[in-house]
Amino acid sequence: MIHAVRLHETGGPEVLKWEAVPRPEPGPGQVLLHQEAIGLNYIDIYYRTGLYKLPALPAVIGQEGAGIVTAVGPDVTEVKPGDRVAYAGPLGAYATDRILPADRLVPLPEGVSTRVAAAVLLQGMTAHYLIHRTYKLQKGDTILVHAAAGGVGLLLCQWAAHKGAQVIGVVSSEAKAEIARAHGASHVVVGYGALPAEVKRITQGAMVPVVYDSVGRDTFFASLDCLAPLGLMVSYGNASGPVPPFELSALSARGSLFITRPTLATYSAKRADLLHMGREVMKAIQSGVLQPRVQQEFRLEDAAEAHRALEARRTIGSTVLVP
Ligand SMILES: NC(=O)c1ccc[n+]([C@@H]2O[C@H](COP(=O)([O-])OP(=O)(O)OC[C@H]3O[C@@H](n4cnc5c(N)ncnc54)[C@H](OP(=O)(O)O)[C@@H]3O)[C@@H](O)[C@H]2O)c1
Repeated sequence: MIHAVRLHETGGPEVLKWEAVPRPEPGPGQVLLHQEAIGLNYIDIYYRTGLYKLPALPAVIGQEGAGIVTAVGPDVTEVKPGDRVAYAGPLGAYATDRILPADRLVPLPEGVSTRVAAAVLLQGMTAHYLIHRTYKLQKGDTILVHAAAGGVGLLLCQWAAHKGAQVIGVVSSEAKAEIARAHGASHVVVGYGALPAEVKRITQGAMVPVVYDSVGRDTFFASLDCLAPLGLMVSYGNASGPVPPFELSALSARGSLFITRPTLATYSAKRADLLHMGREVMKAIQSGVLQPRVQQEFRLEDAAEAHRALEARRTIGSTVLVP
């Protein structure tokens, strides 16, 4: 037997149950991974609450982890037993051991622990595509990053600052502001009430060419108001709830704005892209461009506690669950 955190219904953190389940066998193209650490991500909350639909119940949520390959099924060419790997995407991470498609695994280089990889692969690849592909960040750009002291936020701040951008971070407290500044944000705005006015002051009226908004409902229009004409609104998450339907004239009225709602699933769908982003994240960790802040650690069986902390905005940087 193995252990997993399973949901028999969607709802509050209390629906997450620690249960013994039979050890699965890898089929063709699959591996069995013994997980040493599992990454906690905000998307886990969307699945737990039912905002994002689970394929079936009971279900195991979680989309990120790292560990050692313990068995491979037929036709697996990518990895072998004993390899250290990580992944970001396939649902079913909250378990001591799990089945994965071999072509979704990212090999871990020497010097990157499974704990760090599990904490930041998903958030790091997200930061990578957001500043290299969704918007091609240029040296000298001034950009706006919401939830700047969060998991994706701290990595975005560090990577964007390394590329020569000025980051205006948005956070909910002075304590988080200090952390965002220590990770590359050149300016930090606490709260979003006065956001457009603050961005106007900081940019001396120019406003910003891109906003990375992971908060959703509560910040959507304030974010649009921070963009320069022809600016790009990147709405990549909904921590405060989904963005409600809006009139397209909201974009024309503010200066012919662009908008996108990107997902890591799309940007990593091709194995070549997955491996490229995975390697870029590993290289950035090894070179010190990214200094992952794995601030919280919970036992996997205490996943409900981890969810309560993330939802209550009590976490900073990244969080791991350890089996
Ligand atoms: N589209 C993609 O490809 C993709 C991939 C990864 C993550 N994401 C999204 O990126 C966001 C960040 O993910 P993460 O795992 O790194 O989480 P996180 O940023 O560590 O945690 C969420 C943060 O959102 C802020 N927030 C603002 N309003 C909130 C509210 N009403 N309730 C809870 N939090 C609120 C909080 O920061 P403050 O206290 O500073 O406001 C909170 O700490 C999430 O929206 C996630 O869905 C998207």
